[in-house]
Amino acid sequence: MGTIKCIGILTSGGDAPGMNAAIRAVTRCAIYNGLQVKGIYRGYKGLLTGEIKEFKSQNVSNIIQQGGTILKTARCKEFTTPEGRQIAYDNMKKEGIDALVVIGGDGSLTGARIFAQEFDVPCIGLPGTIDNDLYGTDTTIGYDTALNTILDAVDKIRDTATSHERLFFVEVMGRDAGFLALNGAIAAGAEAAIIPEISTEVDQLEELIKNGFRKSKNSSIVLVAESPITGGAMHYAERVKNEYPDYDVRVTILGHLQRGGSPTAHDRILASRLGAAAIDAIMEGQRNVMIGIDHDQVVYVPFTKAIKKDKPINRELVNVLKELSI
Ligand code: F6P
Repeated sequence: MGTIKCIGILTSGGDAPGMNAAIRAVTRCAIYNGLQVKGIYRGYKGLLTGEIKEFKSQNVSNIIQQGGTILKTARCKEFTTPEGRQIAYDNMKKEGIDALVVIGGDGSLTGARIFAQEFDVPCIGLPGTIDNDLYGTDTTIGYDTALNTILDAVDKIRDTATSHERLFFVEVMGRDAGFLALNGAIAAGAEAAIIPEISTEVDQLEELIKNGFRKSKNSSIVLVAESPITGGAMHYAERVKNEYPDYDVRVTILGHLQRGGSPTAHDRILASRLGAAAIDAIMEGQRNVMIGIDHDQVVYVPFTKAIKKDKPINRELVNVLKELSI
């Protein structure tokens, strides 16, 4: 590996609030340290099509408060093939890019891991996903903002749920992880969360009924993590209709609104710290690592560890929710 003079930066996979703050931090810290920066548009796709532009400090002005990603994002099928990655590498060399910073979730970091292995390219990942499902970092960029969006929505649903004395199943995102559902339920004062992590251990609907989830109230809100493992909110609503017809059930699927909005202070600070740390890591000669924040310390997590899909939920939180929902 020669001296690194130019950094390429891209966002890939599902967008997450705070990605812009990360782009800004990477760009400005790189320039501060005498490096050139190139923005790559539409994720890995931009590497294949050559949609690449030099970034100066002004290119990232006034974006820290914006949701989404100014670099756009995409899920790129071609990059999953060796031929596609060869084109990406050739374009990268043509552009004089020596190292890549990839902001995204597990699919994006998997792409970076393979690319860095195949070619002699230093790749650094930043955890950018509302799902919070990357191992080795306390939270991911966008997770806190999505949680707050969920709270806002559930607070509103509560008004109508209480007025009509209804049971609401509110489906939240998370892919196969229950962080948004569990922590969203605690923060929103919901009666329960149905999450994939414990779906195979207990029948969570039976648990709810058994615990008398309407003991002290006439309305209830249950957050359900979207996932083939839980079956989603519609599945539970159907079950209640069939098994407990006395309940007046409704479903709200929050969907992509959870991915939008101005990032919270937490996500802006997280993204700024991670972006700065990415440049430090490159200058230290690191490669093939995701930058995380663990117990308030910057950590380097090997890609293979970060994307193993076994970030555990905190069981203590499951009990807290149970105790608080009496
Ligand atoms: O990974 C982020 C995420 O929002 C997941 O929570 C969700 O399952 C998925 O992306 C939705 O993807 P798409 O935007 O392609 O529908």
